[in-house]
Amino acid sequence: MATDYVADNLKAPVLDHLFPNMIEADKSASTWPYFRKQIDHPFRVDRRNPTVGFINRDEASILYANARAFKGRSGIEIGAWRGWSTAYLVAAGVAPLHVVEPLLADPDWRSEFEAVIRGAGGSSSTILAPEKSPEAVVRLGEAGARWSFAFIDGDHDGDAPRKDALACAPYLETTAMVLFHDLVSPHVAAGLRALKAEGFSVMAYQTAQMMGVAWRGATKPVAHTPDPAQHWQVPDHLTGIRISGEAAA
Ligand SMILES: C[S@@+](CC[C@H](N)C(=O)[O-])C[C@H]1O[C@@H](n2cnc3c(N)ncnc32)[C@H](O)[C@@H]1O
Repeated sequence: MATDYVADNLKAPVLDHLFPNMIEADKSASTWPYFRKQIDHPFRVDRRNPTVGFINRDEASILYANARAFKGRSGIEIGAWRGWSTAYLVAAGVAPLHVVEPLLADPDWRSEFEAVIRGAGGSSSTILAPEKSPEAVVRLGEAGARWSFAFIDGDHDGDAPRKDALACAPYLETTAMVLFHDLVSPHVAAGLRALKAEGFSVMAYQTAQMMGVAWRGATKPVAHTPDPAQHWQVPDHLTGIRISGEAAA
């Protein structure tokens, strides 16, 4: 049976009570070529959409611990789905928080999402943008928004993650961090490398779907020890990027 893993130094609150429809799913239903079914960590979904996954507990703990260093500072999330990762950003204290998610244009989706945000304690600090990135990011930035923390888990196809990263870049504060989910995809890794080319330091986290972090200024990402019970591999497209918890090659 798959078991959750969270590194010893990275505890995060359990927010499951906000997601009564969250279930552990059968990984075989997913057809995404970059889904690492072989990693024996539970894959959780909303029972109404069994093929779209939430970040797992290992990944939520990395998101929470990094975001915690930005408590009271502004953030943006691109691709929030039903608010699971959003709830961790809210719990970490990132505020104000812009949430860019086109599904929020649906009134039922939005009202369920708002209940999650309320439950996490973020109703007065979370600003929902029911739009697509990168256009929404540019709109918000041009209207004066600036962000210290960004979490990117939106459109994973083609050039989209790179465009999302580069859309955020001009509006990031001098001290800033950008975290990506699904670094096992070369498209997402292109987003991380785009920030590296802009002068950010970068690192990867070895989790089921891998995460990437880019940072600059007076901050440093948290360290993570990958689950010693798993057999980890590093995709070729990540050659040259340091992995947290592993000695530099
Ligand atoms: C895998 S889900 C995110 C899961 C979420 N981070 C979590 O852990 O609960 C990807 C989300 O990106 C959204 N998305 C797709 N294209 C987008 C775009 N252009 N701008 C913003 N969000 C987008 C989808 O609607 C979906 O909700």
